[in-house]
Amino acid sequence: MAGFHPVVEGEDMEKIVKKASTLFLPKPVALITTSHGGRDNVMTAAWVNVACMEPPQVAVAVRESRFTHELIKGSGEFVVNLPSRDLWRAVDLCGMVSGRNRDKFRLAGLTRGEAREVCAPLVAECPLNIECRVSAELPLGSHTLFVGLVLAVHLSAACEGERGAVDVEAFQPLVLNHREYWDMGRRLGRFGETASELEVVP
Ligand SMILES: Cc1cc2nc3c(=O)[nH]c(=O)nc-3n(C[C@H](O)[C@H](O)[C@H](O)COP(=O)(O)O)c2cc1C
Repeated sequence: MAGFHPVVEGEDMEKIVKKASTLFLPKPVALITTSHGGRDNVMTAAWVNVACMEPPQVAVAVRESRFTHELIKGSGEFVVNLPSRDLWRAVDLCGMVSGRNRDKFRLAGLTRGEAREVCAPLVAECPLNIECRVSAELPLGSHTLFVGLVLAVHLSAACEGERGAVDVEAFQPLVLNHREYWDMGRRLGRFGETASELEVVP
């Protein structure tokens, strides 16, 4: 494996043992939209992830007290909307107040877009919208993990990169890092780049 350098030589390997928590993992933050019984809503969620490739599924962890929880339970649907960094103030606001008694779209200056497969609206300002139907739900404690089968994906034409990928520089995703909003920084390398150094085919 000559020539393969996983980390900078001499990097400090000392670890601090932290209290068991989930807050320190930097990750993209989303807006979850829902609709049921003539009401719709938009809620900020950082605990969103890909759950399965085939069939394509994503998962979001939602606390039972959220209005969003009620609307997902009622409709069996939700949309994951990925904002760009410019939307960070709207994202923050949608995580500060409940939509139970207020229209957060109006409050945050967001526009409802039309979904293809679900009743919930899209957030038109978000460059990426993922329409989902609940395929599984797991009550884990404070939060329920809703797994959603991806029914349709909308990507802003301006954010389409090479070979159908997302152009991250055009998209400028918003990242949450321990109660702070960040952008994503710079490109570091290509998926599978190390394989050529190891002389294996990925
Ligand atoms: C950055 C950020 C990330 C959040 N992530 C989540 C999350 O993943 N799951 C969750 O249940 N609540 C999360 N919240 C809290 C909800 O967004 C918040 O309680 C919201 O007011 C609930 O809205 P609703 O009652 O209209 O559904 C987050 C809040 C912020 C500001």
